[in-house]
Amino acid sequence: MYRIVKHMKNASIEQPLIYRVIRKIMYLINIGLVIRNAKIKKKGSPDGLPIPPLKLIFLVTDWYDIEKFLENGHNAFIYIKDTLSKNGIDIKNFKKILDFGCGCGRILRNWKNLENTKFYGTDVNPRLISWCKKYLDFVDVKTNKFSSKLGYNDNQFDFIYSVSVFTHFNEELQSFWMDELIRILKPGGYLLLTLRTSLKDFYDFTPQETEMFENGIPFVRNEKLVGSNLCKSYTPEKYVREKLAKNLEIVDIIRDAAVDFRQDVVLFKKPLNVSE
Ligand SMILES: C[S@@+](CC[C@H](N)C(=O)[O-])C[C@H]1O[C@@H](n2cnc3c(N)ncnc32)[C@H](O)[C@@H]1O
Repeated sequence: MYRIVKHMKNASIEQPLIYRVIRKIMYLINIGLVIRNAKIKKKGSPDGLPIPPLKLIFLVTDWYDIEKFLENGHNAFIYIKDTLSKNGIDIKNFKKILDFGCGCGRILRNWKNLENTKFYGTDVNPRLISWCKKYLDFVDVKTNKFSSKLGYNDNQFDFIYSVSVFTHFNEELQSFWMDELIRILKPGGYLLLTLRTSLKDFYDFTPQETEMFENGIPFVRNEKLVGSNLCKSYTPEKYVREKLAKNLEIVDIIRDAAVDFRQDVVLFKKPLNVSE
């Protein structure tokens, strides 16, 4: 495990500068979007909370669209709640919830009115975390290292979710973070991840990628940029069940439930009598 940590220490978590510059120019010539953003900024977010700067929105979403940012965060909040309630779990019973890879709080901001639950967020990017620290005062946020233990105790959280984060990790990093999230999850607690467990029809896959996937072998595109939005991983359901889940029980896999980017939602449960 620690060999991997060393290998990835310098991995870039932000899109390369040249890519960001090109995308920014493309945004600036999209006058319609520039005007829409200006109107939302003036009017304010429907939830009454501050809107992160566009450069932070771009870091987490790969686009410069405030409305979409807020809408996608709200949709995630809905499908997280729906996945739990579909499986007979009442989120109100959770005392401590962690958003792993929380970015600039696109999802976290939606939990503002959930009383009796303490929210935590962690992300590798200090720029995103300092915005959350300043503007989302109901959340306890921290920056984490790219791949080392989090500063939380064992068995601390009732529920951990991580949206569109493991989909940017390679196999080693996914395995590392699974172990770590399992460590801090309470026995009987739940973990929700978004993953690509099925091949989506809007991508072109090479015959080799398709064959690997059909044989239950995960593959990664742009692995050099692991952790950034430009790295994309595909983890077949068979692999999720047989390897990624480790000692967790799989409660549910819902295809395309993460509606905005058509990722699949996977809900795991840590057994009560887990041996670590
Ligand atoms: C696509 S964004 C999603 C952010 C957030 N979950 C959301 O839905 O708005 C991926 C996030 O994963 C974070 N990330 C990447 N590598 C990470 C790591 N090793 N540990 C924690 N967060 C990481 C990035 O900084 C980024 O905020």
